Amino acid sequence: MIQGSVLALVLAAGKGTRMKSERPKVMHALAGAPMLAHVLATAKAASADRICLVVGPDMEEVASAARELDPGVATFVQAAQLGTADAVKAAEAGFTGFPGAVIVLYGDTPLLRAETLDRLRHALDDGADIAVVGFEASAPTGYGRLLLDERGRLLGIREEKDASETERALTLCNSGIMGFRSAKTLAGLLSRIGNKNAKGEFYLTDAVALARADGLDARLVRSEAAEVLGVNSRAELAKAEAVMQQRLREKAMAGGATLIAPETVFFSHDTDIGRDVLIEPNVIFGPGVVIGDNVTIFGFCHIVGATIGAGAVVGPFARFRPGTDLGPNVKVGNFVEIKQSEIAAGAKVNHLTYIGDASIGAAANIGAGTITCNYDGFAKHRTEIGPGVFIGSNSSLVAPVKIGEGAYIGSGSVISKDVAADALALSRAPQEERPGWAARIRKRRGGAKQPK
Ligand code: UD1
Ligand code: CA
Repeated sequence: MIQGSVLALVLAAGKGTRMKSERPKVMHALAGAPMLAHVLATAKAASADRICLVVGPDMEEVASAARELDPGVATFVQAAQLGTADAVKAAEAGFTGFPGAVIVLYGDTPLLRAETLDRLRHALDDGADIAVVGFEASAPTGYGRLLLDERGRLLGIREEKDASETERALTLCNSGIMGFRSAKTLAGLLSRIGNKNAKGEFYLTDAVALARADGLDARLVRSEAAEVLGVNSRAELAKAEAVMQQRLREKAMAGGATLIAPETVFFSHDTDIGRDVLIEPNVIFGPGVVIGDNVTIFGFCHIVGATIGAGAVVGPFARFRPGTDLGPNVKVGNFVEIKQSEIAAGAKVNHLTYIGDASIGAAANIGAGTITCNYDGFAKHRTEIGPGVFIGSNSSLVAPVKIGEGAYIGSGSVISKDVAADALALSRAPQEERPGWAARIRKRRGGAKQPK
């Protein structure tokens, strides 16, 4: 079937009071991206031709975040939060005259999949005037209930606060996602929605009963409950996160990564994983991570904003902060923190080290306990370590400093001046030895202290 054009209208003006937050609800993150970003991405994936976003009066943060994600998004301000129908009305200038279907999405329903939107569009292309995405809820409290006639056709939607006891017992619920065959159908219904209900709000959900009264075709499109979970509280945010993580784990495994304990690995919406990657338990990925093929990540790593080249071996207990860029076959071991640094092919940083604002040449070996002293209390400075350099354990490299190709740094050194290629540099207090000193002191103090 050839699909007509579609406009996605995203409602995000609600205050989200149940979040108990200073932030607008849709800016709360799931898998490292605001809920809003997930909804906009779904609208795009379902190839919406135009996206309109409705925000509240003090939500410039939301509007600018939306524009940053997609400069084509048109934003509208709903002056007062008088209900979902009023929110749609606030965007009327955005959909009037649009030559296709209008789909209303809620900014607080971020798990929706593009496939479900496609099914909603099919229902509209197939002749429905209005179509609603509904689901069977095991815990329906808080959702509007879908009322069906004896032939199973959609009759209306009853908000929980307005529902009778029998209606409350219904488990078929409104996801909030709703489609209208045309902008005209929507505008016609919208103008007749009132606010005589328990909340005194203009409910978009009333459009269904009005449509049926006009003899229009109202249809139900079913979806899984998990996909249309509405996030109104922090507890629901955590539930949505769990669903999102489950999807990301499945995607990682489908793409050729082995997760030994998938339920302990946390991805970001954009984690990009190659093939034959092994990820041990308890690893967390923040946004902006790209992992090449054949990478091994041992347990308990925390990785954000990092690129990990093919064949690299990382962890356990490694921490990568933004700007970490590992070349192929690099090895980073336990208790190593890296940020804003490039580590070239085959280099090793195996134990208890901090590498910040540095570049490390190919095949260099960074000994245990090496610290790049990149900050002098005022500004950050760079450390440049050439290819094949050997840094002895427990060295401090006081930036800005350059270590030339193939140079050696003796253990325990504090290096504050550039070192020439192939040189040995060390800065160490000379060793002193006093023969028999320990024995003499023990004798004087009445023998060695015995353990109690
Ligand atoms: C809404 C539905 C309910 C459905 C549930 C699904 C209505 C009347 N009720 O209830 O049937 O089961 O979603 O999650 O539609 N918004 C505005 N302006 C407003 C009010 C709301 O933009 O004046 C936006 C909110 O930001 C949110 C969405 O609309 O994104 C839904 O609003 P919310 O208050 O969360 O509605 P629910 O009570 O959850
Ligand atoms: Ca809601």
